[in-house]
Amino acid sequence: MCGIVGILGRGPVADQIVDSLKRLEYRGYDSAGVATLEGDRLERRRAEGKLKNLETRLKSEPLAGHTGIGHTRWATHGKPTESNAHPHATDNVAVVHNGIIENFRELRKMLEKEGAKFASETDTETVAHLVNSYLLKGASPQEAVKASLPQLRGAFALAFLFRGHGDLMIGARRGSPLAIGHGDGEMYLGSDAIALAPFTDTISYLEDGDWVVLTREVGVIYDAHGAVVNREVLKSGASSFLVDKANYRHFMAKEIHEQPEVVGHTLARYVDMATEKVALPAKLPFDFGAIQRISITACGTASYAGYIAKYWFERLSRMPVELDVASEFRYREAPLRKGDLAIFISQSGETADTLAALRYAKSQGLHTLSVVNVPTSTIARESETVLPTLAGPEIGVASTKAFTCQLMVLAALAVAAGKARGELSDADEAKLVRGLIEIPRLMAAALATEPQIEKLARDIAKSKDVLYLGRGTSYPLALEGALKLKEISYIHAEGYAAGELKHGPIALIDENMPVVVIAPFDRVFEKTVSNMQEVAARGGGIILMTDAKGAAEATIESLVTIVLPDMAATFTPMVYAVPVQLLAYHTAVIMGTDVDQPRNLAKSVTVE
Ligand code: F6R
Repeated sequence: MCGIVGILGRGPVADQIVDSLKRLEYRGYDSAGVATLEGDRLERRRAEGKLKNLETRLKSEPLAGHTGIGHTRWATHGKPTESNAHPHATDNVAVVHNGIIENFRELRKMLEKEGAKFASETDTETVAHLVNSYLLKGASPQEAVKASLPQLRGAFALAFLFRGHGDLMIGARRGSPLAIGHGDGEMYLGSDAIALAPFTDTISYLEDGDWVVLTREVGVIYDAHGAVVNREVLKSGASSFLVDKANYRHFMAKEIHEQPEVVGHTLARYVDMATEKVALPAKLPFDFGAIQRISITACGTASYAGYIAKYWFERLSRMPVELDVASEFRYREAPLRKGDLAIFISQSGETADTLAALRYAKSQGLHTLSVVNVPTSTIARESETVLPTLAGPEIGVASTKAFTCQLMVLAALAVAAGKARGELSDADEAKLVRGLIEIPRLMAAALATEPQIEKLARDIAKSKDVLYLGRGTSYPLALEGALKLKEISYIHAEGYAAGELKHGPIALIDENMPVVVIAPFDRVFEKTVSNMQEVAARGGGIILMTDAKGAAEATIESLVTIVLPDMAATFTPMVYAVPVQLLAYHTAVIMGTDVDQPRNLAKSVTVE
């Protein structure tokens, strides 16, 4: 999660860019850089480490250009060195980038064959060379960007400057946020409205797939199909990023939509994208090979993340895993083996039951590892090892982005365990890591189901009870779907393992009971289809969340299908969480509940 900013100014912009980058430093501070147009040259200043190093550099070697872009970096591809710092540039184009270009290796090979000379290890530099290749063939900057964007795979935001075009800046958004700031004879681009707050409070947010051609007077926005579109111009209330809802109605909606970015940010902290290996941010004080059993403890949504991780650890590392809700674990006097591993998952890091469970595990001589979103929290401070989720502040009481970031951390940890225990080869690890690298893009694609889900929510809102079904890792996600729906819409919902249906809950099925089935086309898909037949035979309406193959196979009448992108089977819950969350959210909006602060709930449960 890097921060990007661009200014088409009336005077020198380098200082303004640095001011703006200061507001974005929370997004990363491995290195920073600025490029401006100086007459007929693109000039750059970059520096390793915090922004003050860049400021020092700019004092001794100032930049005078009136058009510029800047970047503060959270290293993903390549070390946090000056040569890997953004902006990346050729003679003709400079670019800053936030996100991941998944196919940078293929692109780099192709561009090197054409003669491009690379100066960094980053994925971003491929974008500069790709656009440059079109410029060299005579394309205009706009044509070059238009031709390049469809070739990039991943979730990202970009801002470009072009030599010889002092009144032009181009921005693009796919999966990562990008805002346009409208000034008086000036225009701006920024990762968020907070970055632009010193210059303007008049903001438009690009939507996914949009790209924009800016001059000092006007911004022309194109959608992913190349059609000119209008995006609302808003007055931003970006005084503090804790209270900024951007252009969303609720924090929950904003947080659902932020997931491609924050999950990508978390991913970048846990895998080395260049070598396709897991690279945990903390050294583990134990050897997975010496551990006989993992115990995972958490509450609510965090416990469902733990439940999904149980499947991953058992499958990838062949390690037995016990999963408990913390309120039960703390009193059931579980026999624990000294030296084994206890994992605690908590967004807030303050949940009283989880904390008590952590203290119990410590007293029994276990290694304690916590996955937390608030690094200064009590659970983080009291754990032997902390693996942070980089979801950023989660304001909506119903957890969304913290959940998917927890899954990303746990997935990386499960791969690390499998590797350390000799269950996974280097090739297996690389394949799994490639699967993880695709997740932010797939989550962004899953967000495209929103209009369909909004319509389906109208039916769900009429129901008194809803059943969620899934098998394998989709089962804990079914539990999470039911929890999400009940906590914000107050509609009664239950999650079940699809195979359990006939052992009881099938008695509830009639035409008034919608059933949400989470079933990617995996090795248990056919079994789930049989369970859907059982529901259909009793008049139950089914909403099936699946992929294209699943949709083609499941030909049951009265079935509504939400089609999600094709992906490797292991990590589907991170992507399928998106429609599950959206369905709960839109149902709650229709019901008119207080979505961000549902009744009787608290964000941090510090009592038993
Ligand atoms: C549900 C939800 C809760 C929390 C639970 C644990 O949407 O947010 O179920 O997951 O209270 O909270 P943390 O993760 O802060 O320990």
